[in-house]
Amino acid sequence: MALLTGSNKIKTSVFISGNGSNLKSLIKFSKQRKSPILIQLIITDNLYAKGLNYAKHYKIKKKIIDFKNKNLAEKKIIFELKKNKIDCVCLAGFMRILSKNFIKNFKGKILNIHPSLLPKYKGLNTHQRAINKKEKFSGCTVHFVSSKLDSGKIILQKKVRIKSNDTPKKLAKKILAQEHKLYPKAILKIFNP
Ligand code: GAR
Repeated sequence: MALLTGSNKIKTSVFISGNGSNLKSLIKFSKQRKSPILIQLIITDNLYAKGLNYAKHYKIKKKIIDFKNKNLAEKKIIFELKKNKIDCVCLAGFMRILSKNFIKNFKGKILNIHPSLLPKYKGLNTHQRAINKKEKFSGCTVHFVSSKLDSGKIILQKKVRIKSNDTPKKLAKKILAQEHKLYPKAILKIFNP
């Protein structure tokens, strides 16, 4: 494998809306020599996102984008991505659906992590729905973003067993721990095949 230095790594932006634990794991990964990505920009739709603390801690540029007008918000994001020469976007708990236009206008790769074994349980409340259906397994998926919600090409998945006493909260915690490992693995898979 070729040695990657800061200057030839893929300039990446992570989009978050909340806690940012996946952002934290991606930042830690990006600091490893083997990482093909370098995180240069954090975008959020939520001024109060807890994950913004990581921008401060790791001294990464951040942009808070008001989504009251989605069209305008997406234009502002595209402008920022171009300005910062971003080639890869990682959605990490970003709770907005990007428009077809955005996906068409951004020329780089867009990835997402979703807390279910797609194509099962697209959208919200995945853990509650998997428990209600008495599934034996759930898990997480990293996939390319397409214009249909949670439907782009799957890169990697990790199965997690659902125990009979699992609550949505317990299951979410178990799956989140796996997400933190899966996202970096998926990035390695697509950029260092
Ligand atoms: C993660 O479980 C992620 O898979 C999920 O939100 C959580 C964010 O946690 N994303 C979605 O549900 C997107 N449809 P984090 O902010 O601690 O990374």
